[in-house]
This record gives sequence, structure tokens and C-alpha cells, in this order.
Amino acid sequence: MSRTIVIASGKGGVGKSTLSAQLGMNFSLEGNKTLLVDCDAGLSSLDVMLGCAQSCVFSWYDIFSEQCNAPDALVQINENLFLLPSPKNAVGDNNENIIKDILSAMQDDFDIIIIDAPAGLNEGLGRAAAAAEFSIVVATADEVSVKAAAAVDKTLRDMGIKQSRLLINRYDIKAAKKGKLLTVDDIINKTYVQLLGIVPEDKNVMYSTVTGQINKKSKFSKAISRISQRISGKNVELSLSLLK
Ligand SMILES: Nc1ncnc2c1ncn2[C@@H]1O[C@H](COP(=O)(O)OP(=O)(O)OP(=O)(O)O)[C@@H](O)[C@H]1O
Ligand SMILES: [Mg+2]
Repeated sequence: MSRTIVIASGKGGVGKSTLSAQLGMNFSLEGNKTLLVDCDAGLSSLDVMLGCAQSCVFSWYDIFSEQCNAPDALVQINENLFLLPSPKNAVGDNNENIIKDILSAMQDDFDIIIIDAPAGLNEGLGRAAAAAEFSIVVATADEVSVKAAAAVDKTLRDMGIKQSRLLINRYDIKAAKKGKLLTVDDIINKTYVQLLGIVPEDKNVMYSTVTGQINKKSKFSKAISRISQRISGKNVELSLSLLK
């Protein structure tokens, strides 16, 4: 059985899709058969981030509405990485179990499934979370994002997610030290979610959206690698000094 993880945040634009794409890429390159599921109906971004937008013909909504068979909707990115694209338009709040039902038929084919949730606490989150057993809540070091992360964590628990971990993205140690951003301790104390990892602010992420490739030696890539190892159960040091 695969491990199914939903990546959520409540607030938009904190890096859910960026982190989903890079974690998926990491797991696949380590030899895990990996499925990325874009749940952001009408606002897909994994297709662009993974450079396969032209190859996305069908979506999970087409599987649900019997326009295609499940395997026809999958887009292969590399030997071990597949994307299940989101529909081009928004879908109504009919059927919270669309993704869950589709994935239950595919689970045995993958070692890990990463579901990129849309922002917000409504039906899109419900659809994404219904299929998952574990959640990663993403926050940046500002009050609004942290408040949203606490709210999304509570919503996910109410939806039945049993394990949740916090991922702090775009962290800037110097700004936090100067009191311009929340510190890691502040964020943990305000969300009450156990910390999975910290990803630094890194210009290489923006460059990669144009070049199509992320610098493997960047501090972003190194942080993602530590986080994917922790998700795999390895004991990897969690220290701010590693972010520099
Ligand atoms: N660690 C980082 N360092 C620098 N820029 C980052 C980092 N993580 C994400 N970004 C940038 O933040 C922006 C938002 O990222 P992304 O689209 O992944 O967020 P999102 O949470 O999926 O947004 P939405 O809620 O709209 O789906 C992008 O421009 C991305 O390049
Ligand atoms: Mg996104």
C-alpha cells in the first residue's frame, strides 16, 4: 500500500505546489514509484512546474465523469514519476470522494502519492484530504499564513487526518533574528503542529520556473532532500545552521 500525503496550507501562495513538485521529484529519483495529484481545479500549476502542460489531456474529473480510463489521464514525467492533472475549470462541490475513489483503485501501483491541495478550507480541501492519511501543513513566517496553517490543521483533523506535520517555507533566518518575521518557535507555538522541516527562501526556486531546472546544490534542494528523508522515516538533523 502506498503512503498518501496531502500538502495543504489554508492561505494561498505559500509554496504548496512548489514543495509537492520537488518532493515528488526527489522520491521518484530515489527509486520510489510516485504519483503527484493536482487538486487545484481551474488553477493547476504542477503541469507547468513539471514542464508537461502540453501533455495533459485528461484530468481526475474526466475519470470521474467517465470520459477516460484512469491510466489514460496519467502523465509520465520520468521513469518513476507520474502526474494526475487537475481539470482546466473549477468543479462544483459534488462528491467529496472523487479523488479518494480514483486513488483507491491505483494505490497498489505507487509507493507514494502526494496530493497538492488548493488554498482555502472548503470543498477543494475536502476532496484532497479525503484520500490522504497524512498531512503536511505549509506556512511561511508571517501571522496571516500561520493563523491559516493552524485553521487548516484543525480542519484536516476534523476531516479524519490522524497525523499532521508542519513545513515552514521561505524561511529567512536573518529577518527572523531581527524580529521582521516570526521565528520557528513562534510558528510552532502558534500552530501546535509538530515540525517536519524548514525550507529557506531561495531565488533558485523562481529561476527554476523559467529554466525548468532547479540547482541541485541550492539550499532549497538540500532542504527538500532532508525533508523527503524524514518522510521516509530517516533520522535527519533539523537545525537552522543547515539552511545557510
Ligand atoms: N522556498 C522558496 N523560496 C523562494 N520562492 C519560493 C519558495 N517556495 C515557493 N516559492 C515561490 O512562491 C510562489 C508561490 O508558490 P506556489 O505556487 O508553489 O504556492 P502555492 O501554495 O501552491 O499557491 P496556491 O495556493 O496559489 O496554489 C512561486 O512564485 C514560487 O516560485
Ligand atoms: Mg498551488
